[in-house]
Amino acid sequence: MASPMASLAISPADRVFVLTGAGISAESGIPTFRDADGLWRNYRIEEVASPLAWRRDPHLVWDFYSMRRRVASAAKPNPGHFALAALEEVLQDRFFLCTQNVDNLHEKAGARRVLHMHGELFKSRCDTCSLPPFADTSLYESPGELPVCSCGGKIRPHICWFGETPFALEQIFQALDDCSIFIAIGTSGSVQPAASFAAQVAGRAKAFYVGPEAPANHLLFDECFLGKAGELLPGLFSCRGSA
Ligand code: OAD
Repeated sequence: MASPMASLAISPADRVFVLTGAGISAESGIPTFRDADGLWRNYRIEEVASPLAWRRDPHLVWDFYSMRRRVASAAKPNPGHFALAALEEVLQDRFFLCTQNVDNLHEKAGARRVLHMHGELFKSRCDTCSLPPFADTSLYESPGELPVCSCGGKIRPHICWFGETPFALEQIFQALDDCSIFIAIGTSGSVQPAASFAAQVAGRAKAFYVGPEAPANHLLFDECFLGKAGELLPGLFSCRGSA
């Protein structure tokens, strides 16, 4: 485990893969899932975030995601999001940001390329036809009508639910193969496939973790920087040989 004053050196030859989880948005006021005040302490995953839940009670599912849209639209990026946007600015295409988060705080902080492997809160799509996901900030709260596609299908949140396959896995695994530094931030290391990304790079890339406590998969990391993302990230990176 590293002290909070430690720094993470990035050389001009490095390619950096960053994986973020709910912890990076915690200081912006968006609850995580598994901490003491986390969402999964108050909601049952199978009732609000699964294909079965959607078939059983789409109103309840939209209630949950409308509540999350309301919270996320009021949230502002914190110094952790800004530090990553600044790192992208320096590293350009040597930087790959993959987030499990469905909020848009990385983008609000200025990040240009963000891969949302679990979908995006402010997008919706049809549950029946191939209509591409579209921007949608609406709140669909009971007892209102639920949105319907022109094909007759139901409009659902553009979210990867439990039992569904995360987005863009091929692109993600290619970027993992290409990286020399892997940094996971604010994720408990308990949800696959993201929890095994550090194993995927083992032996080829250095793996680091940033968060207040060691994650479940901490043995996969070379070093854990223990502390809040918003406090540690702004001073963590030292980019040697970069402008
Ligand atoms: P979790 O709620 O499982 O874990 C949040 C992590 O953030 C914990 O390890 C905390 O220690 C850490 N944390 C809390 N405050 C922090 C701070 N200020 N700075 C840094 N870290 C902090 O959330 P995830 O690992 O992101 O999936 O959860 C993964 C997936 O499980 C989510 O994307 C979601 C959920 O079910 C879907 O909905 C598909």
